[in-house]
Amino acid sequence: MESKKIALVTGANKGIGKAIVKELANRGMIVFLGSRNAERGRMAVAELQHEGEVHYARELASTQIKVNAAAPGHVATDFNDFHGTRTPEEGAAIAVKLATLDEDGPTGGFFDDTRAIPW
Ligand SMILES: NC(=O)c1ccc[n+]([C@@H]2O[C@H](COP(=O)([O-])OP(=O)(O)OC[C@H]3O[C@@H](n4cnc5c(N)ncnc54)[C@H](OP(=O)(O)O)[C@@H]3O)[C@@H](O)[C@H]2O)c1
Repeated sequence: MESKKIALVTGANKGIGKAIVKELANRGMIVFLGSRNAERGRMAVAELQHEGEVHYARELASTQIKVNAAAPGHVATDFNDFHGTRTPEEGAAIAVKLATLDEDGPTGGFFDDTRAIPW
């Protein structure tokens, strides 16, 4: 049986999080979309569902997940009234890279596009 990677993306009903969900789903992963507001979460899932397997995160019972933090750069989203210089897709790239690491990839780290950041 083919095994698929599973990702949980929190704050994913818009902005960088939604771009991360979209890219991971495009890569064939099973993606759980986290949203504090159920209706906004369901709307984002409905919008993205055609990209692949996207689920609402509260459906997630328990699983082993690799945990890393990503710095997306200055991204044009609601967060900064769209004044950022990078696109959501560019901001999503490091999170997508971390979410698609091999089993022996790092965990507990903080990364931007080019390096591990001390924290
Ligand atoms: N944009 C940048 O330049 C930039 C730079 C560095 C780091 N970041 C970080 O990247 C992350 C995503 O930012 P973004 O630019 O994509 O912003 P965004 O478009 O405003 O999206 C933020 C997301 O987080 C959710 N959220 C906000 N406050 C929350 C709370 N208290 N509890 C649960 N969910 C909450 C929002 O849900 P609602 O729709 O319900 O509000 C939304 O889904 C943030 O952590 C931000 O600090 C962004």
